[in-house]
Amino acid sequence: HVDGPRICGMPLKYVSLVTLAVQNAALSIVMHYSRVSTPPALSYSPASAVLLNELLKGSISFVIALSRVREVAEIPWHRKSVWGIICSLPYPWTKPFWSLCSEIFSPDCWKLSIPAILYVVQNSLQFVAISNLPVASFQVTYQMKILTTAAFSVVLLRKKLSSTKWLSLFFLAIGVGIVQIQTSSRHTAPPKHTTVGSAHDFHVHVMSPMKGFGAVTAACFTSGLAGVYFEMVLKNSRADLWVRNVQLSLFSLIPALLPVIYGTKPTNSQGFFLDMFRNFGLWAWATVAIQVFGGLVTAVVIKYSDNILKGFATSLSIVLSFLASVALFDFRITPSFIIGASTVLSATWMYNQPPGKEPIISISTGQS
Ligand code: C5P
Repeated sequence: HVDGPRICGMPLKYVSLVTLAVQNAALSIVMHYSRVSTPPALSYSPASAVLLNELLKGSISFVIALSRVREVAEIPWHRKSVWGIICSLPYPWTKPFWSLCSEIFSPDCWKLSIPAILYVVQNSLQFVAISNLPVASFQVTYQMKILTTAAFSVVLLRKKLSSTKWLSLFFLAIGVGIVQIQTSSRHTAPPKHTTVGSAHDFHVHVMSPMKGFGAVTAACFTSGLAGVYFEMVLKNSRADLWVRNVQLSLFSLIPALLPVIYGTKPTNSQGFFLDMFRNFGLWAWATVAIQVFGGLVTAVVIKYSDNILKGFATSLSIVLSFLASVALFDFRITPSFIIGASTVLSATWMYNQPPGKEPIISISTGQS
């Protein structure tokens, strides 16, 4: 029996997890293709994509939050912000809107500024990583965020990890190391490129695995820190998840906007907004749409499921994107990739075992 809401009779909890796995795999593939399929001079601006992602995610979260709004009148006056008190004035037709605004601009909204900045950095690093690594290697190495999330949980949330969990984190690092070594060695010898396109638009995309691994490692740190910080803010308050999502997007706007303003090269013929979205083709829009969808599904997974199951969804997505890479990008299966990826998957499975069902117990006692 599974509690919680259902979609077409199926628990939302599992629907959202499977959706997240497919979304994760689709994002890596579509994002990779969107970056490598055009020559650098004709590719879109990742900074604009990050900004657009936050604008769309924030707007959708706002609409969802508006449908779930609590009337401001229900909040005692001493807990209202100045905005909340102003909103208490009799504006019956706009009350839900102002009520939501008072929740969004609550006195503790600044707390979201930290994960917001970190997520903007992470989303930007993701573009660097995916442009310089094969999809499957990116996915496997990105599993290191389980390690950083655990480390930040221990330090910031004072969580205690069992020896099985530490052991699985150790295996995770080993598995990522194996994939990293084989990917680097395969790409350090020239030519470092993937060839993309038909006879008409053939070009060579140069990849730099070291740059890619550097970016993905940094993204793992921001993911861990932002995730743990977001968890801390959520658990220490009663605010609605969607309100928190709007706050997250609002605080993301400044760090997301700055690189767009400074990085957009003006042309004579087009205005700033057209320059911003120069070369934004179908694949760029698809990348942004999948990212937005992913952000919203992540929020649903956190609400109706938990981070443990989220880890499972991510590791399932490795298998999906690995199979798709073989079919789409001529990714070659090497024994070391299989050993590394299997170690990462086993470590993820081991880490996610509930207490009492951990494999180390069955190994040490000889029972399953
Ligand atoms: O891989 P990880 O779980 O760290 O990825 C988090 C992604 O989900 C980021 O792109 C972030 O912008 C997004 N997110 C979100 N809303 C949340 C939490 C994360 O959009 N509440």
